Amino acid sequence: MSKKVRRIGVLTGGGDCPGLNAVIRGVTKPAQDYGMSVLGILDGFEGLVEGRAKEIKNSNVSGILAQGGTILGSSNKGDPFHWPVEKNGKIVIENRVEAVKRNFEAWNLDTLIAIGGDGTMHISQELGEEGLNVIGVPKTIDNDLNATDQTFGHDSAVFVVSEALDRLHTTASSHHRVIVVEVMGRYAGWIALHGGIAGGADIILIPEFSYSWEKVYEQIHKRELMGKKFSLVCVAEGAKAIGETMVLKGNDLKRTDPKRLGGIGELVAQNIEANTGRETRVTVLGHLQRGGSPTPFDRILSTKYGAYAIEMASKSKFGRMAALKGTEIKHVSIDEAVANLKLVKEDTQAVEVAKSVGISFGV
Ligand code: F6P
Repeated sequence: MSKKVRRIGVLTGGGDCPGLNAVIRGVTKPAQDYGMSVLGILDGFEGLVEGRAKEIKNSNVSGILAQGGTILGSSNKGDPFHWPVEKNGKIVIENRVEAVKRNFEAWNLDTLIAIGGDGTMHISQELGEEGLNVIGVPKTIDNDLNATDQTFGHDSAVFVVSEALDRLHTTASSHHRVIVVEVMGRYAGWIALHGGIAGGADIILIPEFSYSWEKVYEQIHKRELMGKKFSLVCVAEGAKAIGETMVLKGNDLKRTDPKRLGGIGELVAQNIEANTGRETRVTVLGHLQRGGSPTPFDRILSTKYGAYAIEMASKSKFGRMAALKGTEIKHVSIDEAVANLKLVKEDTQAVEVAKSVGISFGV
């Protein structure tokens, strides 16, 4: 029989997104009823290794439901199993799991609720293998985490993309231009797919489907033949043409995933202008997609995830992640969550629907 959970640690790992505070609130408010106290670990796994944390009481989470970001801070560096240290001008990777174990003990933690995406769940799985009790909550605007129908944060990012496309539609149409919008999405194109459909894009380019430049130009010509002298292109940052590689801004070896993406929007815009003769502009939405207030859908989803995670803790459901299945939150093993990235497929219903309304994927 596992010991009754009395003290919970909670951290937010990886890139931030709208809804993190709503989850922290959803965890903290019911905790008292379960007789549990909550310790907030600062700056994701960095704080877990470095021993930085603060008590979280109801008064700390009052009024944060609609607040973007995270009151705990987050980081996409600081994996305890791949801890980067600078030695003689070089980055050396060390294992800091013993520091995590010491902090767990010093803080008297019975379990850790780790709110994060794929990287956070991988670390959570490894901490579980080291004998620590971890419960996962699935976050990421990219929506690429396996075993859950949706991560929180995605809907808010899609809202930003859709609004941007609405605004760009009017100016593209007035000036008879092609406007390319670069959105986030490293390996999975869910933001571009859903945002593109919601905002009426004419071309959606995603990492899963390598596109042909010719097909992209063809779609713009096709629209011109129909009398439409403007087009909107929604391109995910990780998209690439057949035979080409992802466009990178650089590499940061201290990050869990060293690749820094960016620049595909500019490349797509330049090639379209050069090959169709149509005046082209580019807008990069970047971190606008991660900032600000969560949508009502994300506020509800995040609150459900938080409250469900504390219930999981009370039932000792360790090594498991809260997951949306249809309209209900259930729990799945973290192993299942990290088995694969959830990618867009040829037969994904939204892809078929997009094609049926005339959107091209450049394939
Ligand atoms: O994983 C979420 C994400 O939004 C990716 O789509 C993007 O590549 C990355 O974060 C950017 O992270 P940052 O600029 O914060 O390092």
